[in-house]
Amino acid sequence: MSKLNGKIAIVTGGNSGIGYASAKELKSEGAIVVITGRNPEKVEKAAQELGVKGIVADVESISAIEDLVEQVKTEFGKVDVLFVNAGIFQAAPIGQISEEMFDHQMGINFKGAFFTTEKFLPILNDGASIINLSSINAYTGMPNTAVYAASKAALNSYTRTAATELAPRKIRVNSVNPGPVSTPIYGKTGMEEEQLNGFAEAMQNRIPLKRFGQPEDIAKLVSFLASDDASFITGSEYNIDGGININPLVG
Ligand SMILES: NC(=O)c1ccc[n+]([C@@H]2O[C@H](COP(=O)([O-])OP(=O)(O)OC[C@H]3O[C@@H](n4cnc5c(N)ncnc54)[C@H](OP(=O)(O)O)[C@@H]3O)[C@@H](O)[C@H]2O)c1
Repeated sequence: MSKLNGKIAIVTGGNSGIGYASAKELKSEGAIVVITGRNPEKVEKAAQELGVKGIVADVESISAIEDLVEQVKTEFGKVDVLFVNAGIFQAAPIGQISEEMFDHQMGINFKGAFFTTEKFLPILNDGASIINLSSINAYTGMPNTAVYAASKAALNSYTRTAATELAPRKIRVNSVNPGPVSTPIYGKTGMEEEQLNGFAEAMQNRIPLKRFGQPEDIAKLVSFLASDDASFITGSEYNIDGGININPLVG
């Protein structure tokens, strides 16, 4: 029997990258999957390809999250797996960070993630699994990531508090911290291609396993944390990064 048979799973930001691969994986394990995203055409296209339900909901808008929850409630009732994945990456050096950039990145990566759980809570089944897609940037001092890294560190802090508070309902809350993964996220940063290639090469050299992660690598971990195989795991964080967080002084 597939390990997520009949479970209702929501994947925010499921039209691309890690969310897309995870929606596919969750479905292959028997879950009934709903993906969300902010762009109607992209959501529709991905939903069709995956054979899942797609709902447009920009997590930067609390009322959009509320509408999403209402739609899910009407169509599916209760939810068993909430994969809080939608996120953006914007790089800028300290000293050149605008209030708008701060609010936008925090608004999606932290506030949006935070209120996704907050608003879904009334329709989560007892025993549900919440997985927050964070980043190893939460722990690294990588240049130009002050806001991004802080948004993910805040999310990991929230994971711990939520895990404690939701334990009486047997709702598990965990974070996944990927290292660099090959997804469209980097192309959306506005960085020049040459700059992106240089960044990718430098990264790859630092990763002990000498490759970028693939979205499917992360999807397997998400699917495990979503399942009852992980029923004793809550408040935890999983680095999935080819070893980059080991930070070897000599490689
Ligand atoms: N790739 C990496 O190296 C890496 C490493 C560590 C952590 N992460 C995290 O992994 C998560 C997924 O990223 P990814 O790499 O798979 O990137 P991606 O391919 O760009 O996917 C991100 C998804 O989130 C959606 N999204 C962005 N802002 C949204 C909003 N306001 N409302 C609803 N949906 C929104 C995107 O929609 P659009 O298609 O419209 O942009 C897309 O579907 C993010 O939280 C990211 O921070 C990525």
